[in-house]
Amino acid sequence: MLLKLDNVSVQFNERKILDRLDLSVARGEFVVIIGDNGAGKSTLFNVIAGQENPTSGRVVRNFLKITRVMQDPRVGTLGNMTVKENLAFAYKRESRRGWRPCINKDRISMFREKLKILNMNLEDKLNDTVQTLSGGQRQALAFAMAVLVDYDIILLDEVTAALNPESASNLMELINRTVRIDQKTCLMITHNPAHEKYGDRVLKLENGRLYDAGPIKKVK
Ligand SMILES: Nc1ncnc2c1ncn2[C@@H]1O[C@H](COP(=O)(O)OP(=O)(O)OP(=O)(O)O)[C@@H](O)[C@H]1O
Ligand SMILES: [Mg+2]
Repeated sequence: MLLKLDNVSVQFNERKILDRLDLSVARGEFVVIIGDNGAGKSTLFNVIAGQENPTSGRVVRNFLKITRVMQDPRVGTLGNMTVKENLAFAYKRESRRGWRPCINKDRISMFREKLKILNMNLEDKLNDTVQTLSGGQRQALAFAMAVLVDYDIILLDEVTAALNPESASNLMELINRTVRIDQKTCLMITHNPAHEKYGDRVLKLENGRLYDAGPIKKVK
């Protein structure tokens, strides 16, 4: 197993958000997670990413690198920097060296290629400040930044929520191709039933636990 949660509980004040939750994810699996607003889905991702400590229970991480697209793209991107500076920052995230030296001609053309495949005209906005982008463009940029570095597992938290239906299905196709071709492990939270089919399985978070949400029609 690449990831295993064993009897994990998270309690905020008196409220149990996760309640003795179990989850096992194998390498290369694409798991879709659904559930009502406030069910604890983002909290679950915080626990998996190590940003929230469980009140009790155990998290086993058999991977080195995790990458994540936050539910709020303002958290995952730097608003007062340009698109290319954000990409350079993401690219250099793991390095001790600064990100500025990586803004050279070759890198910029690499960034432009990565943006082009998003189909959101971001390749023409490399010098624009990120806070001037639309919410959807910013969400797409956050995805491009998350997959710029090598990773074993990716957590996607409602990444298509701010997009119009056409852009949402374009980004969803791109996500599917990206994680399937590279055989990455992916956990994706969505409120869009049309996107459940991308998962190998769909789990519903309810009353602090994950339940199998039944058979799905798969796409590959
Ligand atoms: N750090 C925190 N301190 C106190 N309460 C919190 C904290 N983080 C989350 N909560 C509460 O835990 C509950 C679950 O929140 P969470 O963000 O995980 O839900 P969610 O399933 O992601 O919802 P949504 O679909 O709306 O994004 C909410 O009631 C929220 O207010
Ligand atoms: Mg959430």
